[in-house]
Amino acid sequence: MDSLVIDGGIPLNGEIRVSGAKNAALPILCAGILTAGSLQVRNVPHLRDVTTMLTLLTQMGMEVSLDEHLGVCLSAAALHNRVAPYELVKTMRASILVLGPLLARFGEARVSLPGGCAIGLRPVDQHIKGLEAMGATISIDSGYIHARAERLRGQHIVFDLVTVTGTENLMMAAALADGLTLLDNAAREPEVVDLAECLNAMGARITGQGTGSIRIEGVANLGGASHRVMPDRIETGTFLAAAAATGGEILLKDARVDLLEAVVDKLREAGAFIESGPDWIRLRAQGRPRSVNARTAPYPAFPTDMQAQFMALNSVALGTAVMTETVFENRFMHVQELIRLGAEIEVEGNTAIIRGAGGLSGATVMATDLRASAGLVIAGLVAAGTTVVDRVYHLDRGYECIEEKLSKLGARIRRQRN
Ligand code: EPU
Repeated sequence: MDSLVIDGGIPLNGEIRVSGAKNAALPILCAGILTAGSLQVRNVPHLRDVTTMLTLLTQMGMEVSLDEHLGVCLSAAALHNRVAPYELVKTMRASILVLGPLLARFGEARVSLPGGCAIGLRPVDQHIKGLEAMGATISIDSGYIHARAERLRGQHIVFDLVTVTGTENLMMAAALADGLTLLDNAAREPEVVDLAECLNAMGARITGQGTGSIRIEGVANLGGASHRVMPDRIETGTFLAAAAATGGEILLKDARVDLLEAVVDKLREAGAFIESGPDWIRLRAQGRPRSVNARTAPYPAFPTDMQAQFMALNSVALGTAVMTETVFENRFMHVQELIRLGAEIEVEGNTAIIRGAGGLSGATVMATDLRASAGLVIAGLVAAGTTVVDRVYHLDRGYECIEEKLSKLGARIRRQRN
């Protein structure tokens, strides 16, 4: 298993390009199932989760070709296998996103239940309830969700809670359903909007994306299209938090500030100076950041996917911060590892109290999930001495060339192949 070795204490400085968004690319690749035409997806990040998704789609009979400009061309004309096997689903929960499209286009899907996960239970009951309301017959046997339907019917669905992939799955299913579907209490995340725009380019009739109420008029067929994936707002936020924590100055290109206002507000509160244009963000920080409180919640509030990175920033900040995680019930696994680096953190239920420490010192730490790893990398960039972040495969799931990008910003970081 690879590790990242970081010699900390250097402020980040320089410019890099932000990649396409993982959590937009994954559902958009699944949207390829909905058409017999060809879907060209551009700005696809080169990540392990994307490779896993392409493996799954290929196993189903999807024709996949890649071009040298991060473009993926998909054709589901000859899709013959409607199964998402446990071996793939257990490594990537986003595989559940094939359920809605398979059912809508082929009337049948068998998708493994994802099982537990390092950040919480993460059930998929909202996906299942919504598809059942649209007329699907769903049974669970041998660990698999088995769904069948003649043609899905449009329906008014009110989610019990805000779910990103739940909204995406039902939006894709409803695009080919008979009649009108209204999704209320829908996720407003920018990745949902990006998917809706791709579906509309394919001929879907979706309005209201980006609000809590999405309206989908089902159509009989969808066609091919070309779509460019939005920039990754969490990658953007991660680099900004790293620059703020190290007291550096960075310019991010292909980045959109309007997608992460809650994060930018917090960085300003922490003392960073931020400027932006339509496709760039510059952050300048000096010395230690100030502590900032944050409470995670669905978009447009502060994202759960930035909680670990801000926990690292708060660990070295001036003052005491309170951070509350409301989206996932078990997303504080990085706390014990940050404590190993010298952070002072107490956890009570879903709240962490972080007393900014004067300095962290390097140690070997182990990551449990993608964003936890990003938090540990930020802590390692600030810590004195050498930090080794084990289990880099978590980072490879969601950060494209992270060590190359950080090296470009002046960090002393290298990958060690164990
Ligand atoms: N939930 C249910 N029932 C459901 C669906 C969700 O109870 O049927 C609960 C979950 O257990 C959780 C909450 O609702 O407590 C929100 O979960 P959501 O469904 O929104 O999460 P997700 O769609 O599985 C996506 C991202 C995550 C991100 C969350 C929250 C993708 C592929 N994944 O997950 O990204 O943290 O939304 O914003 O879009 C990551 O990139 O590191 C990551 C984990």
